[in-house]
Amino acid sequence: MSKGFFITGTDTGVGKTYVAVNLIRAFRELQLKVSGFKPVASGAVWGNGRLENEDALALMHESNVPLSYEIVNPYCFEPAIAPHLAANQAGVDIAFSQIQSCYKKHAEASDVVIVEGAGGWKVPLGNQLSFDDVAIALDLPVILVVGLQLGCISHALLSEASILKKNRLAGWVGNVVSQEFGEADANMETLKELMASPCIGYFKQQSTKENNVVAVQANTAKLLDYLLEFS
Ligand SMILES: Nc1ncnc2c1ncn2[C@@H]1O[C@H](COP(=O)(O)OP(=O)(O)O)[C@@H](O)[C@H]1O
Ligand SMILES: [Mg+2]
Repeated sequence: MSKGFFITGTDTGVGKTYVAVNLIRAFRELQLKVSGFKPVASGAVWGNGRLENEDALALMHESNVPLSYEIVNPYCFEPAIAPHLAANQAGVDIAFSQIQSCYKKHAEASDVVIVEGAGGWKVPLGNQLSFDDVAIALDLPVILVVGLQLGCISHALLSEASILKKNRLAGWVGNVVSQEFGEADANMETLKELMASPCIGYFKQQSTKENNVVAVQANTAKLLDYLLEFS
């Protein structure tokens, strides 16, 4: 198995954190040491005398490796705007070297590191760095979360094409973000036909009866089996 995975998505709000949290829990249940890493986050509130982002807190909460908030989320900005703009407003330069040194601490302490991007695949971070560069430089296989909603097919195909140019793509996961979207199954079938990489998961709306906690665990277990074989 790869030491870590980089979770990206077709957009913001598509279920990256949701998938990451479920995965961390499942790895933990295998008695593995697992940590979540959110290198850059925008959208944060003050708590414990520092800015805290809810994704980073959720990842930390599931992790079973004690790492400080600053290592889990080295770049955290208050406004929920594009990270390069938030960094610029805060007068901060986002440096890959800092992200890499935090990742090393995760990798030393953990069997598996689950890294969550921000927004979609090609998110600028400023200083000619963007999030896809981070995934490439950390040399992590990517998991693409496709938020099943109108427009997702084109977003998924474009994201996949871009990822495959320079990265290993473990596969993509379909996630039903909104219960209002009535064509999730049909979209999944089309995506399976059109995507080059394997479909490695399908999460329906957890609030519906057919998709209770047991179903989520079963889906996560399948995803986990696949990732355990992935190198
Ligand atoms: N399969 C799902 N069932 C129920 N709620 C979900 C599901 N996937 C995501 N959500 C919810 O949708 C919102 C956006 O998901 P999130 O994981 O935060 O997206 P992202 O990390 O891509 O921005 C969150 O409130 C999350 O709990
Ligand atoms: Mg998130």
